[in-house]
Amino acid sequence: MPEAYITYSERETEELAFKLAENGKIKYGDIIALYGELGAGKTAFTRGLAGYFAPECRVTSPTFALVNQYGNIFHFDMYRINSEDDLLSVGFYDYLDGAGEKLIIIEWFDKIEGFFDEETVKIEIIKLNENERRIYAYTRN
Ligand SMILES: Nc1ncnc2c1ncn2[C@@H]1O[C@H](COP(=O)(O)OP(=O)(O)OP(=O)(O)O)[C@@H](O)[C@H]1O
Ligand SMILES: [Mg+2]
Repeated sequence: MPEAYITYSERETEELAFKLAENGKIKYGDIIALYGELGAGKTAFTRGLAGYFAPECRVTSPTFALVNQYGNIFHFDMYRINSEDDLLSVGFYDYLDGAGEKLIIIEWFDKIEGFFDEETVKIEIIKLNENERRIYAYTRN
């Protein structure tokens, strides 16, 4: 059963992610699978995680770069990925080497879930209205 939260601003979504890290529910070694439509708050959630693990880094959307790195955090955006060949050609699987010491965060995880069978921590963000989000966190502890 996931834990369910409601947030009412981008800041609250960042704070929720920060608290999940602070409470040890998200930690190095995890692969965070972010689900949610355009503008749901996946990058905001990532910003909260980086605020905990790499506070000196500025989080931006890796839509064009595919991956941004902040310390040992690897932040992917799979919006433009449509096949396993796409994933291979950007070298995605190489990033999984040493994953135990990394935090891998993947926006648009649904685009790649057919090509990926590692265990993930699923975070689902549902846009209820302009500023309200329901967030399900499928954390283990
Ligand atoms: N409760 C909320 N949580 C998160 N973002 C919110 C919330 N309410 C409003 N917003 C707004 O929604 C937008 C979320 O943008 P963000 O880039 O984080 O979404 P995203 O899911 O990463 O989108 P994309 O699929 O384009 O990458 C921001 O403009 C933010 O200000
Ligand atoms: Mg984003």
